[in-house]
Amino acid sequence: MLYRLLSCVTRKATASAFYRLPALIMKPQVYFVLGGPGAGKGTQCAKIVEKYGYTHLSAGDLLRAERGRPGSEFGELIENYIRDGKIVPVEITISLLQRAMEETMKSNEENNKFLIDGFPRNEDNLQGWNRTMDGKADVKSVLFFDCCNEVCIDRCLERGKSSGRSDDNRESLLKRIQTYVQSTKPIIELYEKQGKVHTIDASKTVDDVFAHVQKIFDKEG
Ligand code: ADP
Ligand code: C5P
Ligand code: MG
Repeated sequence: MLYRLLSCVTRKATASAFYRLPALIMKPQVYFVLGGPGAGKGTQCAKIVEKYGYTHLSAGDLLRAERGRPGSEFGELIENYIRDGKIVPVEITISLLQRAMEETMKSNEENNKFLIDGFPRNEDNLQGWNRTMDGKADVKSVLFFDCCNEVCIDRCLERGKSSGRSDDNRESLLKRIQTYVQSTKPIIELYEKQGKVHTIDASKTVDDVFAHVQKIFDKEG
């Protein structure tokens, strides 16, 4: 199979591209990062980036950036979904993720290790990923930052004192938690059945949580 792929690629490759062969067959290697709002996904991703050289793509951050982009046709829709704690239609999110992955790999094709944070958050997200990325990226596994709803809410309310986020308030948070329980948990359970989930106790201190994360990455790369 690999031989067939290689010979096919070689036939198509020009002489100058030959030396880039390993990069040509490099696919994005992806960890999905999930957990309730405020579980510490972003905090831990930053530490993984620093130590293991991954690229962190937060679906929420990408949506907020698109919301704020002058002339964006989706700005208002995104803001309404975010404030209501609902999940934006996947066509928007996946195109932002895809573009960000392409941009990252364009500068250096070997930058193919990604943490995709806050995705897939519901069935629509998952189906959109499968439709668009099937065969184009490898999902290595899911990092599930497990934290009870009360701690998640407290952390977001604390973050809300300085984040400026329109959804770090009690009203939005109750909706976000509901979305998490009703729509995201079943996705985590689906991956669990495939033996693809690392469950991490995210209620501990940042350093203790990262100690667990390091055990995973030291083993898996
Ligand atoms: P998420 O990306 O999952 O929404 P963040 O990483 O933004 O979560 O963290 C939410 C808030 O909680 C931030 O203010 C962050 O500083 C804080 N925080 C993150 N991890 C911990 C932790 N393990 N213990 C206490 N506070 C934390
Ligand atoms: O992950 P984060 O807390 O930054 O997400 C904030 C909000 O962005 C979510 O509550 C949701 O409204 C939106 N979002 C989404 N689809 C995703 C990720 C985030 O609609 N896959
Ligand atoms: Mg976050």
